[in-house]
Amino acid sequence: MTDVKELLLSRIRDVPDYPQPGVMFKDITPLLADPTAFSALTDALADLCVRYGATKIVGLEARGFILAAPVAVRAGVGFIPVRKAGKLPGATLAQSYELEYGQAEIEVHAEDLAVGDRVMVIDDVLATGGTAEASLQLIRRAGAEVAGLAVLMELGFLGGRPRLEPALEGTPLEAL
Ligand code: PRP
Repeated sequence: MTDVKELLLSRIRDVPDYPQPGVMFKDITPLLADPTAFSALTDALADLCVRYGATKIVGLEARGFILAAPVAVRAGVGFIPVRKAGKLPGATLAQSYELEYGQAEIEVHAEDLAVGDRVMVIDDVLATGGTAEASLQLIRRAGAEVAGLAVLMELGFLGGRPRLEPALEGTPLEAL
């Protein structure tokens, strides 16, 4: 394991039985509170954005915002928020997706993405892949191209990667 991976892993706290019994929550707040670790994470994600030729960075609400915003600054490209429904004031594109029980919806300002953009999606966790899949659909519906998806953590046992495979259309999924 690289030094950066070890550092990042050491700053992620396991919280048992949160938010409900039987769930082991991965808490990234110790990582965010450590400027060395947060900076190393930002650098690693920004390197991926540069490597895959991203011209815009999408962050997924809410924890994805915290990671994606400094990455966009470091990579020298714009930051675009993908928000939960009802939070953006302008004209939006919306995409709904299935949760275990019920549905969720995310939105992006339609004017923020256009033909010619190459968009890297950044989030903290890939779990079932539903949120990420919906974000890829939104980006393509806006006419933009997906450069890839980068997350801090992948919870492999929840099957996000195989679920996302068709939606990725050959673009990379990087989990640090
Ligand atoms: C979490 C996480 C990802 C998503 C992953 O967000 O930050 O965005 O779930 O789950 P999935 O792969 O099963 O779609 P959540 O909305 O729970 O919380 P947050 O608003 O605190 O980021």
